Amino acid sequence: MTDKQLNNLLKQMTMEEKVGQLVQLATPFFKGATDRGEITGPMENMNIKEEDIPNTGSVLGASGAKETINIQKVHMEDNRLGIPLLFMSDIIHGFKTIFPVPLGISCSWDLELAEQSAAIAAKEASTAGVHVTFAPMVDLSREPRWGRVMEATGEDPFLNSTFARAFVRGYQGDLEHDTSKVASCVKHFAAYGAPEGGRDYNTVDMSEWMLREHYLPAYKAALDEGAQMVMTAFNILNGVPSTGNAPLLRGILREEWDFNGVLISDWGAVKELIPHGVAEGAKQAAEQAMNAGVDIEMMTSCYTNHIQELIHEEALEEAMLDEAVMRILQLKQKLGLFENPYRGANEEEENQIVLSKEHRDAARKLAGQSIVLLKNEHILPLEATQNIALIGPFAQSTDILGPWSWGGSSEDTITVHAGLSQYVSQDKLFAAKGSDIETSTEQQLQAALSTAQNGDVIVAALGEHSDMSGEAGCRADIRIPEVQLDLLKKLKELGKPIVTVLFNGRPLDLREVLDNSDAVIEAWYPGTEGGNALSDILFGTINPSAKLTMSMPYSVGQVPIYYNRFNTGRPKDAPDAQERYVSQYLDIPNEPLFPFGYGLSYTHFEYSNLTLSNSQIDEDSILSVTTTITNAGQIAGEEIVQCYVRDLVGEVVRPLKELKDFTKIHLQPGESKNVTFDIREEQLRYHHANLEYKSDNGEFELYVGPSSAEGLKEKFRLRKQR
Ligand code: GLC
Repeated sequence: MTDKQLNNLLKQMTMEEKVGQLVQLATPFFKGATDRGEITGPMENMNIKEEDIPNTGSVLGASGAKETINIQKVHMEDNRLGIPLLFMSDIIHGFKTIFPVPLGISCSWDLELAEQSAAIAAKEASTAGVHVTFAPMVDLSREPRWGRVMEATGEDPFLNSTFARAFVRGYQGDLEHDTSKVASCVKHFAAYGAPEGGRDYNTVDMSEWMLREHYLPAYKAALDEGAQMVMTAFNILNGVPSTGNAPLLRGILREEWDFNGVLISDWGAVKELIPHGVAEGAKQAAEQAMNAGVDIEMMTSCYTNHIQELIHEEALEEAMLDEAVMRILQLKQKLGLFENPYRGANEEEENQIVLSKEHRDAARKLAGQSIVLLKNEHILPLEATQNIALIGPFAQSTDILGPWSWGGSSEDTITVHAGLSQYVSQDKLFAAKGSDIETSTEQQLQAALSTAQNGDVIVAALGEHSDMSGEAGCRADIRIPEVQLDLLKKLKELGKPIVTVLFNGRPLDLREVLDNSDAVIEAWYPGTEGGNALSDILFGTINPSAKLTMSMPYSVGQVPIYYNRFNTGRPKDAPDAQERYVSQYLDIPNEPLFPFGYGLSYTHFEYSNLTLSNSQIDEDSILSVTTTITNAGQIAGEEIVQCYVRDLVGEVVRPLKELKDFTKIHLQPGESKNVTFDIREEQLRYHHANLEYKSDNGEFELYVGPSSAEGLKEKFRLRKQR
């Protein structure tokens, strides 16, 4: 359908039909749904009548070719003008084949594998009839108390931006011509990852300078990569809820960034303008959200019940409604839905490709690249001749998919026990839970201690239940639950080597785990193939290479803590620092337990010969930075080499370090390789106090190393000609 035809269609639409396009309802509201459940209540609460449903524009949460085809079929019969439904769902890290949670994926620093994971998710979801995924979630966060850090890619704006682009490429590809792709909806706009106290939905308040410098880049990157939609955030930003925030949505998103795609509210966020205290009722909420540029209202009915009234009262212009409707129709056109309302939905193909060996292998590979080795006192990798005592609530748990694991299911999930069984015979593998996640019994403990006696080595599988992170999964105490720490301490008393493996959705306070373990592995939620990937790491089939993308705090008292922090006027580590009157705690260190970019290998790498192509660049030249990396150990491995810059003097304060580039190299034992990064003037730009984005002449330090906390250092100058 051409734009001209869309305009003609728009002209034929009644006001009710136009408003209907702005409404998104969950699957049970639709006649073709398999499980309609009890909907009269919610429908009455929303003051939505059964006869309104055929005008609805999109469906939330449907999936499965059979269901989506049924819903669309009934809809196309009932919708007067034959306008097809859009099907949107939260395919965040896999559809049926579940990949590691995005925080885990980011620790792979592997953009190709990240893109592949999104492409596979899109392929599975599109055959199930999904048209749009509410992903990637790119909310930068420095808040491990916040449950949704698992859903994003860490604390660095540059790394977040590169992953945002990779995910959008994977989901969308050639969207208009390839029905195995889905439209990407980047979320949550904006700065949802900075809630006060790390408590979900809580107040976000920051300078526009901080917002633009750290929190906005990844959204912009996703849109520059072509993301078709944006979802608003629940939080306020500088006093105004994002969903009614015209300076943010119309000002930055639509006017400054020239985004003319579909903007959808988060679940109920339009109506939440009322409890936020900026709207007296649903009518004012509808007016605010529409004026702010929100096209689709998700799962509340302020638009349904008040847009027409507001237009008749001339509080809103019909032209604004027409613009919103046209954006939605154009997205349907881009997806080819007018020509084929069923797009990629195909039940037979769905059954063939979901969880295929190819997809499982990809999930296993990415999980193996996402698992971080934090400590290893010479007990890893394990040997198949050893007796293994697998102890802990995650020993045989299938709760390793993480929150938002869409169609992932227990029966498809490879547990740690199942994975280990691929490496050791049953007579060498002894398992016991030892405790539940947050409770335990003496019987459980005694059984575990008795089982552990059979092992030459203990693998303690501990962590958080997946509902202890994710949306509304916030914790003030970011240690693993007390009963599991008690179990670990009892195991430690047995005097056997202990490898602790963690399954969790956030950076944790791991001090007690470290004190009672000879090796510590951060597995996050590794997904459907998690047990296999972890076993590949434990037995050395994969030499771990993953590196943290969020700082692991020494304690929750340090939070927010991040590597790209500022020096302050009284840095504790200054050469002339006083004893007391410096920026420090009296009771804990300033540094995190593990810094951004940290991760161990079974081998070790040496960095040498950092050389710069020149000591000064201008806006037209390139600074080539070359470093030699050597595998000084006995095992082949991969190293994520990181390049950071420090701007020594800015018009505003400048971070101690900023990640500017990275690469992953493979080295045989004894092998050396030269790695070269090219640094350009545009990578030195930043937001000045007046928000102008530019670089300044001056001196810079440049670091190349294995993490944000260590590396070789050189200096260079920027001297622009213009
Ligand atoms: C939830 C989440 C959002 C998700 C939406 C639809 O509340 O905040 O990320 O996409 O609702 O499920």
